[in-house]
Amino acid sequence: MQPNSTIMLVVLLLAIPEHCNEVVFDLYWGYPSNGRDYLDASCLMFNGQQFNNLCDYRHRNHCTAIRHSGDVMDDLNRKGHHTMNVTLKNMPSNVTHLFFTLSAWCSPNISRYPNPSLKFYEASNPGKDLCKTTFQHAGSYQAVVMCSLSRGMYGRWEIFGSGKCSAGNAKNYEPLQTTIRSLIAQVFNTICNLIRIQNIHRCIVCIQ
Ligand SMILES: *[C@@H]1O[C@H](CO)[C@@H](O)[C@H](O)[C@H]1NC(C)=O
Ligand SMILES: *[C@@H]1O[C@H](CO)[C@@H](O)[C@H](O)[C@H]1NC(C)=O
Ligand SMILES: *[C@@H]1O[C@H](CO)[C@@H](O)[C@H](O)[C@H]1NC(C)=O
Repeated sequence: MQPNSTIMLVVLLLAIPEHCNEVVFDLYWGYPSNGRDYLDASCLMFNGQQFNNLCDYRHRNHCTAIRHSGDVMDDLNRKGHHTMNVTLKNMPSNVTHLFFTLSAWCSPNISRYPNPSLKFYEASNPGKDLCKTTFQHAGSYQAVVMCSLSRGMYGRWEIFGSGKCSAGNAKNYEPLQTTIRSLIAQVFNTICNLIRIQNIHRCIVCIQ
């Protein structure tokens, strides 16, 4: 494995300031030509590499720290809408990574949903997009891992952009879990190992 190519898999976008407590993942999509369908916004939670919890349209209250809007469908304008509001201070300590994904429900790939738009922002600052990752490259895939929140130095949350394409959807998260596990294994451990040289504290948090 080339160290440089692993690093390119995710990009640290920023550390969330401590006072910031709520982030919102806000997704709109158009209906495919054959009618109402869903581009699901989901959050998969991990403790290290171990899958821990799930929030999606069907599991809206599985994690008390996340509120999922459920399906908000506008049949007249042929638009779907999902939001997830994440209260970071309520996140159980056994959740170290939150991965936010989009996935096609009935359609075979993401390109079938016209004009999707995603905003990921602090509730107190909706104008500033925290996830600069686009998903134009993901059209031929069933799912894409957009970004993640990970516990970083001194327990502060950090946002990583990913854009990693995957199979899997809300009927079967198994392929997405596999993709995410390999991201965690390759990227977060690598970053951690690199950072260990410079900052021992950070690595204790990562490797635990
Ligand atoms: C994580 O912790 C919560 C309570 O803080 C507990 O309900 C849950 O079962 C734990 N999950 C795992 C997978 O250990
Ligand atoms: C999520 O946060 C946004 C922005 O603060 C708010 O407009 C929306 O009503 C919230 N949704 C839920 C389900 O709490
Ligand atoms: C998406 O799936 C449709 C239907 O199977 C197919 O015709 C189309 O070529 C696919 N698009 C891409 C970009 O792979």
